[in-house]
Amino acid sequence: MDVKVAIETRRAYRSLEPIEITKDFINDLAKCAQITASCFNNQPWQYIFVYEKEILEKMHEVLSSGNEWAHKASMIIVVLGKKDDDCVIHDRIYYRFDIGMATEAMILRATELGFVAHPIAGYSPKKTRELLGIPEYIDVIALVIVGKHSDKINPAMSEKQIKDEGKRPKRKPLKDFVYHNKYEG
Ligand SMILES: Cc1cc2nc3c(=O)[nH]c(=O)nc-3n(C[C@H](O)[C@H](O)[C@H](O)COP(=O)(O)O)c2cc1C
Repeated sequence: MDVKVAIETRRAYRSLEPIEITKDFINDLAKCAQITASCFNNQPWQYIFVYEKEILEKMHEVLSSGNEWAHKASMIIVVLGKKDDDCVIHDRIYYRFDIGMATEAMILRATELGFVAHPIAGYSPKKTRELLGIPEYIDVIALVIVGKHSDKINPAMSEKQIKDEGKRPKRKPLKDFVYHNKYEG
């Protein structure tokens, strides 16, 4: 798939059907993160791929209200990192930037393979830490919900989520965030 097509095809779908999770699939995604650019090649990202049925079901308890649709996940990728593992240049702290880029590379690769990889912030980092044995000093930055898009609307979805499923939510026009040659905001 062309990069532009992958970017345009990617959606944060919430109606999911199951997929088989293989080690090859996980390694394929991980290798996309592995070669992502990072400050000083620091590679600050760490990921837990949760796909074992029992643990995946326990992950339901870490999800915030409104994210019940994610109970249909075939895999949840837990995105981890810590400040000290990447550049800190005066007040510029780069780990979340680099980890975001690596995670987007995985999301686009999953899209290319025909899957949904939907990042979420609606979860409890504390409960996630407790369940998966993640130490306090590591940030739980995001979860990525993985599955396949289903035509059948997930009954756990709200009206707004159903509306968003059919049509990509509206974006700001370019003029609101693109400036030419000087700051125009
Ligand atoms: C950091 C981040 C956090 C998000 N958190 C949630 C979430 O908790 N629940 C949810 O349903 N979607 C979540 N989303 C998905 C966004 O709602 C979605 O990307 C946005 O509405 C645009 O839709 P699109 O990605 O299909 O274009 C999150 C996306 C990002 C990048």
